[in-house]
Amino acid sequence: MACLIIVGTQWGDEGKGKIVDLLTERADAVVRYQGGNNAGHTVMFGNKIFILHMVPSGILRGTTSILGNGVVIDLPELIKEINGLEKMGIDVENQLYISDRAQLVMPWHKKFDQLREQKKGKSKIGTTGRGIGPTYEDKVGRVGIMVGDLLDQKKFGFRLRELAKEKNIFLTKFFDSDEISFYAEDIFKEYVDYLEKLKPCIVDTPFLINQLIKKGKNIIFEGAQGTFLDVDHGTYPFVTSSNTLSGNACVGSGIGPTFITGVLGIVKAYTTRVGNGPFPTELLDGDGRILQTEGNEFGATTGRSRRCGWFDALLVRQAVRLNGITSIAVTKLDVLDKFDTLKIATSYRLPNGEECENFPKSLENVTPVYQEMPGWKCKTKGLVNYDQLPTEMLSYLDKISELVGANVSIISTGPKREETIVLNPDQFWILTN
Ligand code: GDP
Ligand code: IMO
Ligand code: MG
Repeated sequence: MACLIIVGTQWGDEGKGKIVDLLTERADAVVRYQGGNNAGHTVMFGNKIFILHMVPSGILRGTTSILGNGVVIDLPELIKEINGLEKMGIDVENQLYISDRAQLVMPWHKKFDQLREQKKGKSKIGTTGRGIGPTYEDKVGRVGIMVGDLLDQKKFGFRLRELAKEKNIFLTKFFDSDEISFYAEDIFKEYVDYLEKLKPCIVDTPFLINQLIKKGKNIIFEGAQGTFLDVDHGTYPFVTSSNTLSGNACVGSGIGPTFITGVLGIVKAYTTRVGNGPFPTELLDGDGRILQTEGNEFGATTGRSRRCGWFDALLVRQAVRLNGITSIAVTKLDVLDKFDTLKIATSYRLPNGEECENFPKSLENVTPVYQEMPGWKCKTKGLVNYDQLPTEMLSYLDKISELVGANVSIISTGPKREETIVLNPDQFWILTN
């Protein structure tokens, strides 16, 4: 039995999807425990590219895939995603389980997300516009609708009409927008139809996951977003609205922390961020453009250009601490192939002039202090043998490992499943009984 949590250590898009898919080879189930279709997880094998938004990446290997109670679900988008995957030959419906306690992203949540961003103007967060924030707000405010609520149509219809009334006050009085009540009846019919399609997938997922654990199965908990988008520990308010940290894997899937056997941190060999918020090592020069182009750094969900910068060791060291990371997978090393010199932020100069190596209270207005390392200046894309890696790359990896305080267990040299070097395949599936 093993319960392995896979988390992003930066601002998302570290390559979690690729690594989840890789390790699913030996997993019996993959669980998403937070976030929604703000995520975009890319998996490539053969000549195929898949971008998963809500469905766990494990589905591509025909593995039991679970949307836990902690996720938020946009039903029409989920159905579109399922249909898209089925068209590509993936059997989703027989492998997918959805928690009856997961919250629904409703049409007004998307509308509020977009209107709020517009209203904020320059200080906007740069959300994905998928309604994630407003859905979690309603969950915590105890007025959200859970997937299981759809099963009682009378109750669902009543709640829908009540909520539509309340939301309309905000829409018209605060946002000067149109009312939505005129289509509350349509929403009802639409959602009842979705329910018909997904009914067989809706189950008590905490029970299911705990049963799998009892049977000694290997389970992957697939994190979405990244450590610094966590609503408690990230660069607030420029964060998402869920807890992205490993600790939330337990709450978001309904298992106890004593079952967790490992936490794998996914680390991009440099840093990227989509949307607004502080980013100390961001490069706005030619080097940034090289990272952007070579790394093909465009958002998998919104297509926006990702901001790019050098590797920030303070950031990842903090992520190792916050998540209890037991080892790291370093991705996208091949993107650095062309650089003469690589830089790693090892401390920050604070606005008051002080230099600090510890993670500061705020990342606003800090200036990174860099250590330089020689680049390897040769093509490494697709290398699969450790012995083929240039010595400069091995030194770069050693430096990262030393600075962040975690061993490197996986090296990724390209987007494809096989473009990977796993240093110790047995360490992820620690047998506890
Ligand atoms: P996720 O959200 O963490 O799953 O990451 P995304 O899929 O949003 O973004 C990672 C991008 O990098 C995707 O386009 C992947 O196909 C790609 N990728 C992953 N690992 C590597 C790698 O080692 N090298 C290169 N060149 N691309 C990679
Ligand atoms: P994956 O799982 C990168 C960012 C958005 C925005 C902020 C808040 O693919 O790594 P939201 O729509 O969640 O309210 O937006 O969070 N964001 C991500 N950035 N990768 C993601 O997911 C992200 N999900 C949200 O760009 O800055
Ligand atoms: Mg992504």
